[in-house]
Amino acid sequence: MMQEIQEILASHSAERSSLIPILQDIQESLGYLSEEALDQISCSLKLSINEIYGVATFYNQFRFQPPGEHTIHVCLGTACHVRGGEQIMDAMERELKVKSGETTGDGKFSLERVACFGCCALAPVVAVDGKVHAQLTAKKVPSIISQYHK
Ligand code: FES
Repeated sequence: MMQEIQEILASHSAERSSLIPILQDIQESLGYLSEEALDQISCSLKLSINEIYGVATFYNQFRFQPPGEHTIHVCLGTACHVRGGEQIMDAMERELKVKSGETTGDGKFSLERVACFGCCALAPVVAVDGKVHAQLTAKKVPSIISQYHK
């Protein structure tokens, strides 16, 4: 892991303006921003951890925990929102006992929001590991999750 982080840092100039591209590359490579990664960025760019954290949390594309075994994306774009996307997100949060952007304690599921899958006619839409579940209702949420609980 250390090596990957070092290589990414070496491929960017050690300037503040490289921060976002570095964060993006690390997230792509490791799946999240580990503490170790933040420490190394801090040394390399001479920025405090707080500063890096402040920038990274501003963009909700970044995550600070390893992704779960399954990733659930709930669409909250306009079409999905109008047809009950928020209720589906609430049902997911209740069922998984996490908030959007978090991973369950057992590492099984990560819950994320997306702005539109581009299949609005099927709204409201949720994707689990990229598999789309169309015209979902909050009621169907427990059965969707249980399919992946094996
Ligand atoms: S708004 Fe949800 S798929 Fe477009």
